[in-house]
Amino acid sequence: MESREIGFTDNLARTLGMMAKHGLLLTTISAEGRPNVMTIGWGCVGTIWARPVFIVLVRPSRFTFGNIEAAGQFVVAVPGDDMHETCLYCGTASGRDADKFAERGLTPVEAETVAAPLIEQCVRHYECTVIHRNDVVDAAIDAQIRSDAYAKGDFHRLYYGQILRVTERV
Ligand SMILES: Cc1cc2nc3c(=O)[nH]c(=O)nc-3n(C[C@H](O)[C@H](O)[C@H](O)COP(=O)(O)O)c2cc1C
Repeated sequence: MESREIGFTDNLARTLGMMAKHGLLLTTISAEGRPNVMTIGWGCVGTIWARPVFIVLVRPSRFTFGNIEAAGQFVVAVPGDDMHETCLYCGTASGRDADKFAERGLTPVEAETVAAPLIEQCVRHYECTVIHRNDVVDAAIDAQIRSDAYAKGDFHRLYYGQILRVTERV
């Protein structure tokens, strides 16, 4: 994959726009070294502790959750406009039951700074290492959001990933 390194704010509006439209793809690696990918619709990019940070929200029920807990790393991959079906699939199938890379013909590509892979077919990648994590607090969340998002519990864990490297396909 031919790519160039960019700043974390470069084309950020495109990344956030895609997250709101079809979702982004969050890649992780299992303790056995198997790559997995899940769709995320919620997240934030900004500066915290004088570092560039990508915050992702992952429910404990996700296979991805155990992978991030074990590895402390992840990659956020920005899909192309033609990858809507892939986002739907990766947002419904679980890595517990399926090899989503193989099922969708996605090609894992080695990242430079983390063990989680990039995805050949994606246009932009954020390589992240976890520098903080905390859970949504039941007693503190807005009542409407609680009933909309947490009727069954499964409160998201927020992973604060320091962005180590951002690349864009050329
Ligand atoms: C558009 C879309 C956005 C999603 N956003 C999130 C999210 O931000 N956090 C989350 O925990 N699950 C989210 N999901 C659900 C997971 O992607 C889904 O449960 C997935 O199957 C988990 O895969 P895994 O078990 O391989 O980790 C989303 C699903 C879709 C379709």
